[in-house]
Amino acid sequence: MTTRPHRNRRCQLSVPGSSEKMMQKAAGLGVDYVFLDLEDAVAPSEKRPSRKRIVDALNGLDWGRTTRCVRVNDLSTEYAYEDIIEVVEGARENLDLIMLPKAMSASDVQFVDKLLSMMEKKLGLKKRIGVDVLIEEVEAMMLVDEIAASTPRLECLIFGMGDYSASQGISVRDIGGGGGYPGDIWHYQRQRLTIACRANKIDAVDGPYADFRAPEVFREECRRAMTLGMVGKWAIHPSQVEIAQQVFSPKPEDVARARAMKKAYDEALAQGLGAVQYEGKMIDIASVRIVNNTIQKADRLGL
Ligand code: COA
Ligand code: MG
Repeated sequence: MTTRPHRNRRCQLSVPGSSEKMMQKAAGLGVDYVFLDLEDAVAPSEKRPSRKRIVDALNGLDWGRTTRCVRVNDLSTEYAYEDIIEVVEGARENLDLIMLPKAMSASDVQFVDKLLSMMEKKLGLKKRIGVDVLIEEVEAMMLVDEIAASTPRLECLIFGMGDYSASQGISVRDIGGGGGYPGDIWHYQRQRLTIACRANKIDAVDGPYADFRAPEVFREECRRAMTLGMVGKWAIHPSQVEIAQQVFSPKPEDVARARAMKKAYDEALAQGLGAVQYEGKMIDIASVRIVNNTIQKADRLGL
């Protein structure tokens, strides 16, 4: 069995593949993950020429530690298969993942998996190309469990609230905005998708928030997604990157508390106790499981 690589996804920055200028800017931002877009950010007339622009950016720019992904067009279009072939053949090991939008079923993801397997063999690639998938149609949300389990190549599901709003008939003014709905309009979808991801040991990521001039709303959206177990959020503008990376990194005081609680529990256990008081409240092995998630995140980020 092949194991999935761990990648940081505190922020996934969307960059139009038609814009050499924006791709150049994206390479220098120190973001965890970028995806160079061939789908909605690129007009139909620019889709074909943008494949080469993306390959040149992947091969020519210094991306540092940033994970590099390309979002291809969905499988109902005439573009998708050539998007994958041209980008993978052109960039080879300078590409980490393909992002598939508007997946409708497990077999959509399996198609991409098989195509990539054939290409990896033909090109003799040493490194496996991962797949991240957007859940943004009501049909996909209904099948999210089987999509999450579709292939070991799948690393992450993203809740894409723009297209999803259209698909469900949700009326919000801006992509990712709450539209004045009482409570959190995305509560169910975020929960649903995150449960499917956690059960299949893949990452859950929250999609875009279009109003990039409202950083405090964006921060709150990040916080909600993080609280439910999502590991990151998209950015559509450089100004959103640092906010997301901050919110999805555990705070130093939370890491210190997590380590201290685990130590106190281990000491109690050595004395034959399963439940004890900590900061005046009950803790037991479940409390330790919760803080272990914080410790694991901190260890991975070297905090
Ligand atoms: N990636 C990299 N650089 C970006 C960027 C992005 N997503 N969005 C903006 N920039 C750059 C601009 O080129 C500009 O660079 P400069 O200072 O060197 O000139 C700088 O950041 C500031 O941009 P700003 O002037 O505030 O905005 P803009 O009018 O240039 O761009 C958008 C606004 C919305 C058109 C742009 O942010 C964008 O295209 N976002 C991504 C859209 C997308 O991918 N949608 C699909 C997924 S939902
Ligand atoms: Mg979409």
